[in-house]
Parts: sequence; structure tokens; C-alpha cells
Amino acid sequence: MKAQRICVLGGTGFVGSHLVHRLADLGHSVTVLTRRPERHREFRVGTRLRLLAADPYDCRELQQVFADTDCVINLVGILNEQGNSRFQKAHVELPRCVAKSMRETGVSRLLHMSALNANVNESRSLYLKTKGEGEDLVHNTPGLEVTSFRPSVIFGPEDSFFNRFAALLRMAPPLFPLACAGSRFAPVYVGDVVEAFVRTLDDRRSAGQRLELCGPRDYTLRQLVEYTARVIGRSTRVIELPDALARLQGRLLGLLPGKPFTLDNYYSLKKDSLCSDPALPRLGITPHSVESIVPVYLGANNSRARYYAYRARARRAS
Ligand SMILES: NC(=O)c1ccc[n+]([C@@H]2O[C@H](COP(=O)([O-])OP(=O)(O)OC[C@H]3O[C@@H](n4cnc5c(N)ncnc54)[C@H](OP(=O)(O)O)[C@@H]3O)[C@@H](O)[C@H]2O)c1
Repeated sequence: MKAQRICVLGGTGFVGSHLVHRLADLGHSVTVLTRRPERHREFRVGTRLRLLAADPYDCRELQQVFADTDCVINLVGILNEQGNSRFQKAHVELPRCVAKSMRETGVSRLLHMSALNANVNESRSLYLKTKGEGEDLVHNTPGLEVTSFRPSVIFGPEDSFFNRFAALLRMAPPLFPLACAGSRFAPVYVGDVVEAFVRTLDDRRSAGQRLELCGPRDYTLRQLVEYTARVIGRSTRVIELPDALARLQGRLLGLLPGKPFTLDNYYSLKKDSLCSDPALPRLGITPHSVESIVPVYLGANNSRARYYAYRARARRAS
């Protein structure tokens, strides 16, 4: 594998921090752009990994950074938001600026993070609609060699799925009301997502492909929440919220600081997040199961799990 100079946007987040350290360990020179370096003091930089303050919406600034770059990875995404303008900005304007700046500087290779069910024709969820718009935009930009990734929900140390439900279950009464309990997911391990990026980086045959990333099994949301309760040692009973109440929950919780659940989340959850053409086996990756990984970072009586829980809390607070 040839060492490359890689620029990563959104590399300080959950997936990014796993990916960029792996890329640096493999010998690549990795520059992680961040809007707020002061928020990432715990980020482990090194000789091959640097953190650079930049405004990802400033195309001129991106051009300057891309001048010394072989490949760009865009991981920027927002989920818990309301209103079209923020989604448009992060999922469409930003990829447009990335694509434009790459063309101006002659950088062609782009790995772009999208999501399962992202679709420009989606009528309700703005997350899925704008993710689809951004994905199409980069694939349709002439001169770019784009591979995009469409994962189901991603799990691993510091994820915001199992960690969030674990935190809620720890505070919850014995009955836990759950919106969209019947929605189905095939959770994919962050280490497998990282491996998919690593394996496609050098493989120009993957240009133009949109790779669906799923774990080995699918579950309903209810099954995943009940499983989380068992792992953290709670005997909670999950009850499905009727649809009208689930929508109301989205409206109300979306008004709280941090927007723990929004109406847009509710619309996204109405669609099962399952792969029709799973890419991991084709890439030679055997996906890890939820059961083999989650207890390591969420288990009730396990010192490594307590450490990961501490890191997840610190990340949510920053
Ligand atoms: N996690 C999942 O289960 C999942 C599932 C499917 C798809 N995805 C996609 O995978 C990608 C990475 O997910 P993640 O869970 O790692 O996300 P994350 O932890 O929230 O990190 C995203 C990073 O993007 C940057 N960012 C956040 N909001 C931004 C904004 N409005 N404008 C510009 N930059 C912004 C932040 O970097 P700075 O603050 O340093 O600038 C942040 O570290 C996203 O595109 C997401 O949609 C994730």
C-alpha cells in the first residue's frame, strides 16, 4: 500500500477518531480538519496525524489544504436537528464545497460517508433527503473518483446508539416507552466500517460505487434496547409507543437542549435500515456481531467498559 496524504473532514467524531488513527498507524499522513480544535484536547495527535483548524464551508481555505493532499475523506454528518437549513448546509453545501475545491486543486479521490436509505426523493426525513442529495452531488461531479459508504447504525466504543440507550435505561423507571420499536437495523461495527474505508482507499475500481455496510444480523429497535438493558444489568420492560405519541415525543424532545430525539429522527426511523447488497463480504471483511463487541464497552462489571463509558460521557459533554 502506498503511503498517502489524506485530509479528513469530520475526523474528530465517533467514526473519524477510529478511522484516522488506523490510517496513521498504516503509515499515511493524515490531516484532520476541525472547526473547534479547543474542543478536542484529548485527540491523540502524532507525527503522522495532525489536527488543523479550518472552516469546512470556506472553499478557498479547503483549496489551500487540498493542495498538499492525495485523497479526501468526508465524514461530516448531523442527525439530531430540525429544519432544512442546517441539514442542507452540512450534507449538501459542504460536499459541494469539497468537490469544487478538489477539482480546483486536481485532487480526484474522495471517500464520502453517506447513510443507508439516503435518497434525494425522500419526502419526510430531511436527514435522509439531504444525505442523498450530497451523495448524488459528489458522484455526479466530473473528474472525481468517488466511493460512498451507506452504513446502517454504527456501534463501538463511544457510539451514540448503545451508549445513549444505556444512559437512558439507567435513569428510566422499570417501564421504558420506545418510539418506532418495530423498526429494523443491521448494526455494523465501527472497526468493520474503518476496514472498509482502508480497503477501498487504494482500490480505484471502487470509484463510482455506493457501498452498503451492515452487520451480520438484523434486529428490531425493541430487541436492541432490551439487549442493552440486559448488558447493563437492568430488568426494564420496553413498551412500544403508539405512533401518534412517538411523533409527539419527537416534537417535544426536539425542543430540549441537545435534541435527544427529533421529529426528523422519527421519520428516519420509519424506514428499516437494512442492506439489500451488503458490501463487507465482497471486501473480504467478516462483520463482527453486536454480541461479540457491545459487552466489552457496556458491560456492567468490567473495568474497560467503565473506561469507555467515561470517554463516551466526556465526548457528549464536549
Ligand atoms: N454513527 C452512526 O451510527 C452513523 C450511521 C450512518 C451514517 N453515519 C454517518 O457517518 C458520519 C460520521 O458519523 P459520526 O457518528 O462519527 O458523527 P459525529 O461523531 O457526530 O462526528 C461528526 C463530525 O463532523 C463535524 N461536524 C458536526 N457537525 C457539523 C456541522 N454542522 N458542520 C460541519 N462539521 C460538523 C464534527 O467535527 P468538528 O466539531 O471537529 O468540526 C464532528 O466531529 C456522518 O456523516 C453520519 O451521518 C453515522
